[in-house]
Amino acid sequence: MEQLREILDNFMVLEGLDGSGTTTQAGLLADRCKRERIPYHVTSEPTTGPVGTLIRRFLRGEEPVHPDTMTLLFAADRSEHLNAPEVGIRARCELGELVISDRYLFSSLAYQTIACDSDFVQAANSHFPFPRRLVYVDVPVEECVRRLAQRTHREIYELVDFQARVQERYEEILATYADCGMEIIRVDGTVSAGEIAEMVWKMVAGRPIRGV
Ligand code: TYD
Repeated sequence: MEQLREILDNFMVLEGLDGSGTTTQAGLLADRCKRERIPYHVTSEPTTGPVGTLIRRFLRGEEPVHPDTMTLLFAADRSEHLNAPEVGIRARCELGELVISDRYLFSSLAYQTIACDSDFVQAANSHFPFPRRLVYVDVPVEECVRRLAQRTHREIYELVDFQARVQERYEEILATYADCGMEIIRVDGTVSAGEIAEMVWKMVAGRPIRGV
């Protein structure tokens, strides 16, 4: 079934636990694209749009929200992120920009399935295409939690036990989608940010982000 899912050329996603450094890597990849004069667009989920802004409020734990509602909000945010005319992921990919997203539907499959029914989460995300490339920044839970403890702002999912379960989910996801046409790249996220960026670039550079 999953083999039939649409794959978006020019679309690349970074995923990992909280504190794994996906945001840093998205920024470093953007810098590199700029230097190499590759047209690119860096984006993230939750987005900065109205639904993403609402999600951020819930993530800060300012008021309670049902887990199913969070699943639907993430999906609504993603729908707009993907389909907004001219500025959405799809439109930008079609224009030939390399779109780099810090998190995408794999985050929903990893995080929301902990408190919600897995079929419900899958269904809410079943209409979204896959990216051509998925980069998983692999950092042990203990290291992520150590990094998070140094941050001033905290969010509801940043607990050790929760992150350990998210990691298990990510492993399942990487195995499940290994043969569905996406290129899945796992990088060691414990070395310096510069070294990780270099590894990511080596895997990306010189290889057009298109299907064969
Ligand atoms: P992120 O912006 O990466 O974290 P930070 O604020 O530390 O930079 O992501 C915010 C949180 O949202 C993170 O815990 C992962 C979670 N999330 C989901 O649970 N489901 C989703 O679909 C997405 C995109 C994010």
